[in-house]
Amino acid sequence: MRKLNIKKLIGKLTLMIGYFISTILLFGSLFAQNTFEDSFITQYEYGKMLYQNPRGISCSECHGSDAKGKTIVSFTHIKNKKKFNCILRTKDITNITYEKFLQNLDPKLEKPTPTFTKEQVCEKLLFGNTMPTYFLTPEELKSIFFYLTNKDKYE
Ligand code: HEC
Repeated sequence: MRKLNIKKLIGKLTLMIGYFISTILLFGSLFAQNTFEDSFITQYEYGKMLYQNPRGISCSECHGSDAKGKTIVSFTHIKNKKKFNCILRTKDITNITYEKFLQNLDPKLEKPTPTFTKEQVCEKLLFGNTMPTYFLTPEELKSIFFYLTNKDKYE
């Protein structure tokens, strides 16, 4: 009868257990990676849905479906016999900071009222007639911002 080599057996067992654990860890990390990515895609889709259809007028109507800006209105205004060509145009909002984003959208933040010089006839006319007030929750704001700033990555 062959003598059982306990030392060899223990060595083999340790190796097998090692393989087993590393396999579990590998699959575990793959799975975690997946759910991590998934939650970002969910937030992206949610933000996209809100951008197109918030409670109120759609953002894309004034900012364009690509959020890169568009001309909303242009008109001529005459003041003191002087002609002013006024254009209301939105800018690209896919690369703004979260602070700037919130300044325009967080209902809790009040925008400071600017003062206009005599030459800023158009700015004065257009001021206040631009962004509607939305009542978006912090979670909704975060998702819209995530969508806007990750558009190039996902689409
Ligand atoms: C009725 C038109 C209109 C709608 C609807 C609208 N916006 Fe705006 N928005 C403007 C105008 C006009 C400005 C000021 C011009 C600019 O800065 O681009 C502006 C400014 C902004 C800014 C600041 C840009 C900057 O550079 O400071 C952000 C961010 C923004 N809008 C996001 C949104 C989001 C998100 C929505 C939807 C929830 C939305 N807007 C809906 C017209 C609109």
